[in-house]
Amino acid sequence: MIDAGTWTTAAYLIAALLFVVSLAGLSRHETSRSGVVFGIAGMTIALVATAVVALGSASALGIALLLVALVIGAAIGLWRARVVEMTGMPELIALMHSFVGLAAVLVGWNGFLEVEGGGVKAGTSELAGSLLGIHHAEVVIGVFIGAVTFTGSIVAYLKLSAKIKSAPLQLPGKNVLNLGALVAFAVLTVVFVITPNVGLLVVVTALALLLGVHLVASIGGGDMPVVVSMLNSYSGWAAAASGFLLGNDLLIITGALVGSSGAYLSYIMCKAMNRSFLSVIAGGFGAPTSSGGAEVTGEHREIDAAGVAEMLAGARSVVITPGYGMAVAQAQYPVADLTRKLREQGVEVRFGVHPVAGRLPGHMNVLLAEAQVPYDIVLEMDEINDDLADTDVVLVIGANDTVNPAAAEDPGSPIAGMPVLRVWEAGNVIVFKRSMATGYAGVQNPLFFRENTQMLFGDAKERVQDILAALKSLTPTG
Ligand code: TAP
Repeated sequence: MIDAGTWTTAAYLIAALLFVVSLAGLSRHETSRSGVVFGIAGMTIALVATAVVALGSASALGIALLLVALVIGAAIGLWRARVVEMTGMPELIALMHSFVGLAAVLVGWNGFLEVEGGGVKAGTSELAGSLLGIHHAEVVIGVFIGAVTFTGSIVAYLKLSAKIKSAPLQLPGKNVLNLGALVAFAVLTVVFVITPNVGLLVVVTALALLLGVHLVASIGGGDMPVVVSMLNSYSGWAAAASGFLLGNDLLIITGALVGSSGAYLSYIMCKAMNRSFLSVIAGGFGAPTSSGGAEVTGEHREIDAAGVAEMLAGARSVVITPGYGMAVAQAQYPVADLTRKLREQGVEVRFGVHPVAGRLPGHMNVLLAEAQVPYDIVLEMDEINDDLADTDVVLVIGANDTVNPAAAEDPGSPIAGMPVLRVWEAGNVIVFKRSMATGYAGVQNPLFFRENTQMLFGDAKERVQDILAALKSLTPTG
């Protein structure tokens, strides 16, 4: 007969394979839905297998606690996922990362209390010699990564939800503080492995909690996309560290998958913002510089929906560059209708998506896919940038920082060097927004004052609907 251990190993193996297939699916628009399904299947198998193992060895009280925790966790998770707005996803993700970090801290402390602290396994021969040394290291590393992830994610949540200011905290010698904390951690780890004791673990926990707060508080608003993916990566490594402590292979594999994919995503984000990982940690991007960039002055011109409809009806090529405002307005559905209508009339319509448009990686792609915009006309910034000069009309729908010419032209600008969509090279630019306010990075946008730019003020969804209505009256039979 096959024993329970073999069943569990088989279940974990299948779950791990499903996670790998899920990640592969999530990397392409066309297969992303099946990627999500594989991920759900893998997680269900992993949860059931883990619960069955726990139920087999737990006391009645343990079983009751496990079931209560499962029900409460599942209920909160389902509720949050159902009510969260797409624009609130980054905050929710940051909060979830904080749970992974907290779990890793608790698992680490539990491992310490069980073994080094003289708990249930103390004195047994289960862990001896070098294995015991490895256990000490697992405890201290798990607690450290978990605690940094925990407080770092909470600060990221507070910044993303605008509950605290997103401007970077500029403590004197902040890089020395971060570096000093890392060196202190390395030294404390060595000391803990030689002489593990509760006092040292308290110091490591406190140090890591403070480092997490300082690390993320020091990073400026413009770098938040990298912070979110960086914390995603940390949460993966924290889970992997817990996996080592619990002797759970699936947790190690899953943690490593999340850790490495998050690290790669951070690399892609850094490339998109023309930043090195170290300069993100060093902070300050998107914060007002002492020079503050060139003063943006001038007159802006306004246009109404009927004027835009006329312009579009006479255009050969149109590029739409969506941004965070399209998500806020939920304008993707009328935008998809407008796209369909223009294409039916023979106008070439394409989308230019900046890698950090919106508030989370792939934000715009998700919205456009939801509204059934064909994938093949949704292009990345690098794929469309060179075509913008030959484009008749660019519709900037709720985007701001990602189309700011100051990034390319003003070395004093706080976002200087960040690659942007060069929409100003097109024949005409229509900017959809509600006011002359700045975008996420808080930087003035000279695009609004360019000669070929006209502003269409108001809620993006309503304005696109107005354009659709005006187009209908221009072409009553269409
Ligand atoms: P933003 O620079 O954030 O600008 C969005 C614009 O949308 C605002 O200027 C706002 O102007 C307008 N808007 C808001 N609600 C609107 C509505 N209902 N109708 C019409 N317009 C509306 O957008 P972006 O170009 O997408 O840039 C993204 C920014 O977020 C970057 O700075 C990026 O670094 C940062 N960020 C990105 C991420 C990721 S991973 N994508 C994560 C965190 C931060 P009004 O208020 O005048 O309407």
